Amino acid sequence: NLIPIILAGGKGERFWPVSRLKRPKQFLCLDGSGKSLLQATADRLLNLAGSWSNLWVITSAMIADGVKEQLPDLPESNILIEPQGRDTAPAVTWATLEIAKKYGKDAIVGFFPADHWIGDTQAYEKTLEVAAKQAATEPSIVTLGITPDRPATGYGYIEQGVVQENCNCPDLPIYKVTRFTEKPNKETAQSFIDTGKFSWNSGIFIFQAGVVLGELKKYAPDLLDLLSEKGKDAYAELPKKSIDYALMEKTQLACVLRANFGWDDLGDWNGVERLLKGDLDNVELGTHISHNTKDIVVYSSDRDEVVVTIGLKDVVIVRDGNVTLVVDKSKTQDIKRVVKFLHGRS
Ligand code: GDD
Ligand code: MG
Repeated sequence: NLIPIILAGGKGERFWPVSRLKRPKQFLCLDGSGKSLLQATADRLLNLAGSWSNLWVITSAMIADGVKEQLPDLPESNILIEPQGRDTAPAVTWATLEIAKKYGKDAIVGFFPADHWIGDTQAYEKTLEVAAKQAATEPSIVTLGITPDRPATGYGYIEQGVVQENCNCPDLPIYKVTRFTEKPNKETAQSFIDTGKFSWNSGIFIFQAGVVLGELKKYAPDLLDLLSEKGKDAYAELPKKSIDYALMEKTQLACVLRANFGWDDLGDWNGVERLLKGDLDNVELGTHISHNTKDIVVYSSDRDEVVVTIGLKDVVIVRDGNVTLVVDKSKTQDIKRVVKFLHGRS
């Protein structure tokens, strides 16, 4: 059995103004389904977990109440609360230590970002079953690779090596990972894609708790020792670092399964556009009336609000409360800088 742990402590600042400090990206409903990204993630994993009592969430103190509200069926004792966000290396390490304490070192755990869109839930479950089996039989850190369609710089890139001999499912071969590079620049990303051997890291990891604790002992001993000794009291001393840099770029035990279930990280407002596949007049997201307008994203938190656009191209318009954001589509990454500036002022 797989014990899923949802990583839900990120801020998602690129979705400002709809995302705010206490209402980060994972709490938003971006696809008009009525469910937030976090709720959809939990629902998707429930089958594999078997029940709510085997599903875990790790998040930061600032938004823990929000997580409880969003997931009323999740036992409160299954929410691991970090005193402050220190990125995913501490989150994965502490949560794995806690799971090993509770279920034993041979427990198979899966880490899942809370902010993804997944197309085909059935194919997703099947892939995860194969991954869990692999993690149970071989000392490995199983990653799920996504076929890249552009030289995106916000992802990890996984180079695929030879196929593993002992694959447990012929339709879903598992490859050795020869290299893992987190967030390369555009030129490097393009050169990776040109080889045809790379996939994007989906951000989902499956492994046996003891295997990763052993790898952390090798590659991030300070982090592991501090968290083993002091538990969450260690956080104040921990630097911010993601698990991709702290472990995935270093470990020799990674393998990759090609995901075939439809995936999007919805990184910023452009991701919402991919999700809606151009169907921007979706009433769930507010009403948009356009004339001579092309390739724009309109999002309004208030369904009664009408946004009218005339003669525009490549623009993102977001309305939330008393804030309106209008940004050139190619500049959505800069929203983070504005948010930083606004926090500095308040
Ligand atoms: N508990 C906790 N604490 N969760 C966190 C923290 C933290 O301090 N920081 C981030 N998270 C959560 C986020 O909410 C998200 O669900 C997940 O961890 C991943 O963090 P992101 O900040 O969104 O990572 P990323 O998108 O830049 O990169 C990762 O995901 C990509 C795919 O979406 C990497 O794993 C990349 O290699 C990968 O390609
Ligand atoms: Mg992300």
